[in-house]
Amino acid sequence: MIDKRPDGRKFEEMRKIEGKVGIVKRADGSAMFKIGDTVAIAAVHGPRVLHPRFLQDPQKGVLRCNYDMATFSVSDRKKPGPSRRSTEISLVTEKSLLPVLDLSMYPSSVIDVFIEITQANAGTRCAGIVAASMALAHAGIPMKDLVSAISVGKVGGRVVVDLDKEEEDLESFGGPTDIPIAYTPKNGEFTLLQLDGNITKEEFIEALKLGRESCKQIQKEQERALKEVYKEKGK
Ligand code: CDP
Repeated sequence: MIDKRPDGRKFEEMRKIEGKVGIVKRADGSAMFKIGDTVAIAAVHGPRVLHPRFLQDPQKGVLRCNYDMATFSVSDRKKPGPSRRSTEISLVTEKSLLPVLDLSMYPSSVIDVFIEITQANAGTRCAGIVAASMALAHAGIPMKDLVSAISVGKVGGRVVVDLDKEEEDLESFGGPTDIPIAYTPKNGEFTLLQLDGNITKEEFIEALKLGRESCKQIQKEQERALKEVYKEKGK
């Protein structure tokens, strides 16, 4: 087993986080979330009437998430445009956010969430979910809770929080295990859980426990960033 992580972090320690709200002027709501070198920007447009009309649901609004990694976000130029990966991440992002929204308030409407990863160093789907959740709140959409997200897993035989790219690429000890989770701290629900790699039941429970604690810290930062906007407005 490894005794320390490549960047010197403790096993249960996530990278440095920072949130900022209101960064895309033309959007109804927007936010940035940074974790280490991973940066996600989210912009919310809507709720607005959904066109074409055959896509409308007269009972409730539709949430559409679009995740994209910028070509310049990684050292090897990323091929522009959608991919199977971005389609999957857009879908799981929608699923992680839906439980906190009451879309019956917006019949025949759509809420569009665009997520752009401007810097990628692992954990981008989780960073995108955190930014999207803040952007929805900033757009004034009523939410039962803010959704927080982090990747947990196993590196070098150890259960860790927030794998970076270097750790994701480590092949020792059977390779890394990556478990992105999204969590709503107020009601204690997991709204995303994916798993890539191998892990025992005990390690899995331990990883989720650590992930929950990190999500609580992330939620504090989300709230701090949202309150900052109203502090500015109140001046
Ligand atoms: O980013 P996340 O961990 O949610 O998803 P992933 O598919 O496990 O990707 C892990 C990391 O691989 C990304 O964060 C990027 O740093 C990198 N990546 C890349 O360099 N080029 C791609 N086309 C896709 C991912």
